Amino acid sequence: MNTPPPSIAVFDTKPYDRVSLCAAAAAKQLTWTFHSFRLESATAAAAEGANTACIFVNDHADAAAIDRLVQAGVSHLALRCAGFNNVDLPAARAAGLRVTRVPSYSPHAVAEHTIALLLTLNRKIHKAFNRVRELNFSLSGLVGFDLHGKTAGIIGTGRTGALVAQALRGFGMEVMAYDPYPQAAWAETHGITYADMTTVFQRADVLSLHVPLTPETQHLVTDRTLALMKPGAILINVSRGALVDTTYLIQHLKSSHLGGVALDVYEEEEGVFFEDLSAEMLQDDELARLLTFPNVLITSHQAFLTREALAEIARVTVDNALRAAQGQPALEETELTG
Ligand code: NAI
Repeated sequence: MNTPPPSIAVFDTKPYDRVSLCAAAAAKQLTWTFHSFRLESATAAAAEGANTACIFVNDHADAAAIDRLVQAGVSHLALRCAGFNNVDLPAARAAGLRVTRVPSYSPHAVAEHTIALLLTLNRKIHKAFNRVRELNFSLSGLVGFDLHGKTAGIIGTGRTGALVAQALRGFGMEVMAYDPYPQAAWAETHGITYADMTTVFQRADVLSLHVPLTPETQHLVTDRTLALMKPGAILINVSRGALVDTTYLIQHLKSSHLGGVALDVYEEEEGVFFEDLSAEMLQDDELARLLTFPNVLITSHQAFLTREALAEIARVTVDNALRAAQGQPALEETELTG
């Protein structure tokens, strides 16, 4: 008996998702339903008839949403991202819902965006671009600092943190790192030193976060740890917004303690990032405050957004959906268990 072709309900679809997923599925028997809204308990029923629901970083796969997905006939939840802090894994396991993710699609994309943020913020390229377009060729207020000879602190030396550390070594920076699972041989090869988290915060001129969001890492950057940082240091977060306590971040910016902050993620980004709100009233006062600082640079969760990363996300997601529909085990590294 032939297995029916997998049917996939995609939540929070953007035009580039549709293009890459359809390209990866070319010549494969798959049925797609693309929804622009996010998954939450109130929208889960839209997956009715699909065996796979495909979600991204700001969808909410909490226990109630999982319950409704299963009631709608969904047996597989395919995350088209690496982070899975938005999924209640124990609830999924209890409900018999298989969960997969794309653990690594392009750490290069994320690492390169981190470097782009650092160089833009430090050398004030975003300001220079706007000035020159208005025929303002003045250099006042555009002074940066040499990365060469300064110290970078890397929190988390997994796939992206390691690449960022190596790139910063290329600029001639000293690199200190903290990770509960240090990679000694890698560190030695690249001239990188591991230290405890407090020392890394204290010594860094540039501090970059590359850890998953877990109960342990939530608000890793808060009043106490921000106070450890050198006056004038730069903080970069491309990982997950809730690693940083925004209220204290604003305090340390207002007091001019921090030299600059570059964010690709934000604690309350859901419903804001990825959307065009240019004709609306921004309701988030902390985000509005962050946007007023001359030394804050924010991008809208785009570190992953390269052609290569989108193609790899789509390839692995389609593979996960096909395997699930055919009752085959998922590739071990993609499977998430509660
Ligand atoms: P990874 O899993 O390869 O590395 C994470 C590292 O963090 C591991 O070495 C782990 O030992 C370490 N770690 C765990 N807890 C820690 C702690 N308390 N303190 C210090 N280190 C700790 O993950 P990868 O690929 O490097 O990605 C990191 C995070 O970046 C992801 O979890 C995801 O949330 C985020 N991300 C953001 C993207 C974006 O577009 N802005 C795209 C992809 C990932």
